[in-house]
Amino acid sequence: MAFTIAIDGPAAAGKGTISRAVADHFGFAHLDTGLLYRAVGARTLDGTDPIAAARALVAADLDAGALRGQAVADAASKVAVIADVRAALVDFQRAFALRSGGAVVDGRDIGTVICPEAEAKLFITASPEVRAERRHAELLERGQGATLDAVLAEIHARDERDMSRAEAPLRPAPDAVMIDTSAMSIAEAVAAATEAVEQRMRARGYPLPSGQQDGNQ
Ligand code: CDP
Repeated sequence: MAFTIAIDGPAAAGKGTISRAVADHFGFAHLDTGLLYRAVGARTLDGTDPIAAARALVAADLDAGALRGQAVADAASKVAVIADVRAALVDFQRAFALRSGGAVVDGRDIGTVICPEAEAKLFITASPEVRAERRHAELLERGQGATLDAVLAEIHARDERDMSRAEAPLRPAPDAVMIDTSAMSIAEAVAAATEAVEQRMRARGYPLPSGQQDGNQ
């Protein structure tokens, strides 16, 4: 039985952590679609044409470890404005979303363009300052130095590019549940997301993980 959970939102709002935790909770597969754009962006850094790179992309290119840096993130948001790049990546994302057993798909346009029929949609936000602090801490942990000001400037630039592009701009689907994680711990944000998904599952008669069928409604 397919059940798609679409999770969208801007950089460093907590989407990735929440998506992995929600997928674990329900035993669903998880696709971080940012990795597709990052993989294409990374190829353009060595001069490859972005549309050719998107058309040639294979699952083995989605190596999260190698694609995490700021330069790749920036290249990703530049190739993500190109309509033919986005079009080349649609089928893979839709096939993943509709797999039986359930899927969590996170990105920028999942609830609006890739899976407008998703059974549950979440839009995860946080203030730019909080997001910059989180991303800065993450980079330091990985030994990648950058000042907080530089990270905040990069977040603003990427938000602007992601929200103002003509093709699949970042915006919540009309029926998305909004979760602002600015003042939430990871556990609180995951609990809010899980609860929102369970409400959709109950409403659609989808079987909840064992023991939760009669939970608070
Ligand atoms: O992890 P972070 O939120 O910083 O970025 P990401 O999710 O890996 O996405 C990197 C870039 O890819 C974004 O800034 C978007 O421009 C683009 N992207 C997109 O356009 N559509 C998606 N579904 C996912 C990512």
